[in-house]
Amino acid sequence: MEVIVKPTPAEVGRTASALIARVSREKPEAVLGLATGSSPLGIYESLAALVDAGDLDLSRASGFALDEYVGIPLDHPESYASVIARDVVGPLGMDPSRVRVPDGRASDIEAATRDYDEAIRSAGGIDVQILGIGANGHIGFNEPSSSFASRTRIKTLAPSTREANARFFDDPADVPTHCLTQGLGTILEAKRVVLVAQGAAKADAVAAMVEGPLSAMCPGSALQLHEHATIVVDEAAAARLTLRDYYDYTYANKPTWQRFE
Ligand code: F6R
Repeated sequence: MEVIVKPTPAEVGRTASALIARVSREKPEAVLGLATGSSPLGIYESLAALVDAGDLDLSRASGFALDEYVGIPLDHPESYASVIARDVVGPLGMDPSRVRVPDGRASDIEAATRDYDEAIRSAGGIDVQILGIGANGHIGFNEPSSSFASRTRIKTLAPSTREANARFFDDPADVPTHCLTQGLGTILEAKRVVLVAQGAAKADAVAAMVEGPLSAMCPGSALQLHEHATIVVDEAAAARLTLRDYYDYTYANKPTWQRFE
């Protein structure tokens, strides 16, 4: 795992976007794994700025959203299909026909989730998966106790996750109880993973993910098994990391050819 600590949330977004831009320039047909929520917004803003400036072209890239709610209409402003269209596909100049979101309204959920994993495989796999982390350690909506071998499937959101996401809805009772999410096994198959976290509320989860034991109680710790995971956090989210000096030293001494910013 590579851990990069940046002074501000804005720099977290810029650094992570530089990595994604590098992958996308090397491979214009790159397959991006797209997270929603607040954490990756800075990434999408920075990528959009590169696209607007003519420094990056994502029109041939494709995308797979990480998750979707079950039980809200597709055109609900907070369905992840709507969020991905609004915050990602439009601003990044992606081709909507190349971006897929799990179908939370499918009548046959098992078939829909199986098809989703199959579609990722058929696209050649995800080149870079963007992730945030929940305060309880979830990645995607793989809540604590999720299997490290799990595939895209339906999950019940933890009450604390529903509370955290209530800020996006008019009434907390409107937050769906279920979702479809890429599994931890699905996420681990991405060729590269970049996870961003900002703020003190994420500090315990970040420490458990990076330095804690491999445990289904912290689904993010599954990333310790990934050969190419980059974790970019701000000072507040890094506050409980015990090897902080080593991470800074490693980053300062990163070979030039490995740098992406
Ligand atoms: C979003 C997702 C979640 C969020 C996590 C953090 O697609 O899968 O894992 O990344 O809940 O959410 P924010 O970024 O809103 O704090």
